[in-house]
Amino acid sequence: MVKEARAQRVASYVAEWPEEKVAAFQQDFLAWYDEEKRHLPWRESQDPYRIWVSEIMLQQTQVATVIPYFERFMAWFPTIADLAAAPEDQLLKAWEGLGYYSRVRNMQIAAQTIMEEHGGEMPRDLKSLLALKGIGPYTAGAIASIAFNQPEPAVDGNVMRVFSRLFGITEDIAKPATRFIFEGVVRHTISHPHPSEFNQAIMDLGATICTPTSPKCEMCPLAAYCLAFQSDEREKYPVKSKKTKVTPHYYLALAMQDAEGRWYLEQRPSTGLLANFWTFPLLPLDKKTYEHFKQQWEDAQTRDTGEQILELVAEDEPSLVEYLKEESSEVIWQKAAVGEIQHVFSHQKWHILIAYGYHAEKSYEEKGWYLPTAWSELPFPKPQQKIVDVLLDKAYLED
Ligand code: ADE
Ligand code: SF4
Repeated sequence: MVKEARAQRVASYVAEWPEEKVAAFQQDFLAWYDEEKRHLPWRESQDPYRIWVSEIMLQQTQVATVIPYFERFMAWFPTIADLAAAPEDQLLKAWEGLGYYSRVRNMQIAAQTIMEEHGGEMPRDLKSLLALKGIGPYTAGAIASIAFNQPEPAVDGNVMRVFSRLFGITEDIAKPATRFIFEGVVRHTISHPHPSEFNQAIMDLGATICTPTSPKCEMCPLAAYCLAFQSDEREKYPVKSKKTKVTPHYYLALAMQDAEGRWYLEQRPSTGLLANFWTFPLLPLDKKTYEHFKQQWEDAQTRDTGEQILELVAEDEPSLVEYLKEESSEVIWQKAAVGEIQHVFSHQKWHILIAYGYHAEKSYEEKGWYLPTAWSELPFPKPQQKIVDVLLDKAYLED
């Protein structure tokens, strides 16, 4: 979506929110927060380091679970310098039970960057925050607003739920670009003197009142402003499309060349996915076999040639080289595999391992063999083009 179209959508959602209404809304909302806010350890100060750690912990974990982890983390690593210098085993120990360890590893990398590039102080501007490992638009907005009182939106799923109901926003929240719409609406309504409290008020409302199922509108301080409540459509929001399920498919592509420089191509059936397109033969594999073959290819890459591959294969494991020999015994399979490509269709994801082999002589079979100069007449689908690119890249094929 282009910027202007996005701005127009935002404008349409806030059309009935003139300045006075926004001001009244902020007043009611902040008064409610002042009375009802949850007392949480990271709310005892505006220390950006504490805010940052809490936001990372809260990304995939509930508040009640996070509290003891947060307290211990702060006791172990009281400053950004301590986090930057923490031994890995202690770092992982501090995270044990929270899961998604990349979150804490990224945090340490970011802490090291802060030590090196920002004199150990959390940067205040959005751009520098976003440049830190593991800090995306939500976390950057949360730190900028909560710790540094900047009127920045911090849009996560909770904010989208609350705001979609308030403003009757029907954009699909499963789409990544929808975040921009919500950011625009938050920018229109966020309190400038109190962005920190405003954003935290949304979090608390979303956690305690405007909950995913059965929101408690009767107790909601914002009911008078809420479009979903007024139209009695609270169940309609947020609008979220079901992700279409993408199933993985695994193939071995046989890129075979004969002594005349011709390559073997097949036309796909006239029905189904990629009907009538031309590709190298694609042999379907089950996931396990594919993974074994891929592992054998990767092992072979760390050696000089694919020759020793046989020795590397465990007895109960299918061998790629044996498999290829069985497929085409007249072909000399020079390397176990030359590369891998992936391609995503709307409902399928193809993983294709590419094997290269050649006929020492001109193939006795005439049908199916084509010189690259004749390929322009055969429509290649995207995965086939990607395979060709790999062959070109590895010099199995000349431009
Ligand atoms: N969820 C995400 N961030 C939060 C915060 N700062 N306080 C409470 N809940 C949250
Ligand atoms: Fe959410 Fe109901 Fe409040 Fe609207 S009135 S913001 S739907 S809790």
